Amino acid sequence: MKTTVDINSNRILGNRNEMIYGHFIEHFHRQIYGGLYDPGNSLSDDEGFRTDVIEALTNINIPIVRWPGGCFVSNYPWKDGVGKYRVPFFDKAWRVEESNQFGTDEFVSFSKKIGAEPYICTNAGTGSSEDMSDWVEYCNLKDQGKWANLRAENGHRDPFHVKYWSIGNENYGDWEMGAKDLKEWGRFVRESAKMMKRVDPSIELFAASISDLDWNLNLLREAGKYLDWISIHGYWDTLNESNELSDYETCMTYTLEIEPPILKTKHILGSLGYLGKIRIAFDEWNLRGWHHPHVNSATEDYLSPRDKNDLNASYTMADAVFTACFLNQCLKHCDVVGMANFSPTVNTRGAIFTHPDGIVLRSTYFVFELFTKYMGDQVIDSWVSYSDSFTVEKEGNAIDIPSLDIVATKQEKDSQVSISIVNRHPDQAKEVTFRTNQLSSFNQAKLYSVLADSKDAYNDVEHPNEVSIDEKQIPIKDDGLTINVAPHSVNVLVLR
Ligand code: AHR
Repeated sequence: MKTTVDINSNRILGNRNEMIYGHFIEHFHRQIYGGLYDPGNSLSDDEGFRTDVIEALTNINIPIVRWPGGCFVSNYPWKDGVGKYRVPFFDKAWRVEESNQFGTDEFVSFSKKIGAEPYICTNAGTGSSEDMSDWVEYCNLKDQGKWANLRAENGHRDPFHVKYWSIGNENYGDWEMGAKDLKEWGRFVRESAKMMKRVDPSIELFAASISDLDWNLNLLREAGKYLDWISIHGYWDTLNESNELSDYETCMTYTLEIEPPILKTKHILGSLGYLGKIRIAFDEWNLRGWHHPHVNSATEDYLSPRDKNDLNASYTMADAVFTACFLNQCLKHCDVVGMANFSPTVNTRGAIFTHPDGIVLRSTYFVFELFTKYMGDQVIDSWVSYSDSFTVEKEGNAIDIPSLDIVATKQEKDSQVSISIVNRHPDQAKEVTFRTNQLSSFNQAKLYSVLADSKDAYNDVEHPNEVSIDEKQIPIKDDGLTINVAPHSVNVLVLR
């Protein structure tokens, strides 16, 4: 059977927040030092930022970037990371010495350079409520008090106007420094939020959360009135200890596990009357979990295994297809998901790999390029008549996976229609016909696709173009418009 998709661009389902295309960087391995921040490299600017990285990140229109962690932040003494003399400290999250050469000032400057809003995640592990509100003073007060004046002394007379602040990162987990039980957490968030909002009532506040009923009920009852966002995280191919990456087909089963945590969190928000007031920030997500084995071991090498995150062969069309399915879910649930931060941006499992002489654009990079450049700001009604499926065996279960995942959008300013069509199928192309009663208003159709010859293709230093973006004109006929989408591909059809 053929797949037909009926589009009704007069029926707006919701407005997407561009912050679903956000990113995250952490003080881990080579994300910052040797990644985006590489003083002394001939490719770096006078502040030490890699200009090739800045250019590539600017090209994918990142609206917001979260920093400094992640687990790192739960023992991060931010005050040691500002000023002329930076005090190194032993980072107990990752068991390395942090030089503190990259701190708040550098992060704000980096955000500006790529045109993104800075989003600071604060230390709710070893830090106090006062440390958090001092940090807001440092960034946002003009000239009142010790911390704003310290920023001026450090060469930044004008406030940084950091609008987005999270209280904590995964403080529910025993892996986190300064983890807290749900009772402690509710009170701590409330008291921290009170102080931070007193410094700058215009900030938007997040709190570390999981899609768990008890944790969120207590958090929202204690601190919901201060919160604008609730943070959840997701890594589906968990690789903390083993670096045995799931194959393409298994990764396709993970694409069906993106929506449940969104719905669960949405229903919890709804049950307490916070829908419409508090939104979901999926502020760490990636198909692949980061690899950092033996972090608690007294005998095992816990540092060199982290280099395996740099193996570019790990990041194939499975990563591209998963990333597109994730962004499609953010669009489908744009009523409650207002932000998402790809984790991380540079190196580890990121969209860009850096080496001393340049960068490699990994498969996921091109998905962000397509979505941020061509998808619209309004989600519109679309009805997929039929999609075939394929079966994947996982843990003894036969999982039925629809080949196609489709979301339609419209650009409010010029009514351009853009449709994301993901073909999950590992080896079959799919024919899709689009019908819309507004067809006559379009005179051009173009299909942009992230393509590769194999589902396991990847880009690397020696072959940087195995995965790339292809574009082609599509004829518009009276009865509709038919495209053929390649296997394991991410496509955006643009009707102008
Ligand atoms: O594996 C990296 C860690 O994943 C991040 O630091 C943390 O936020 C998440 O648990």
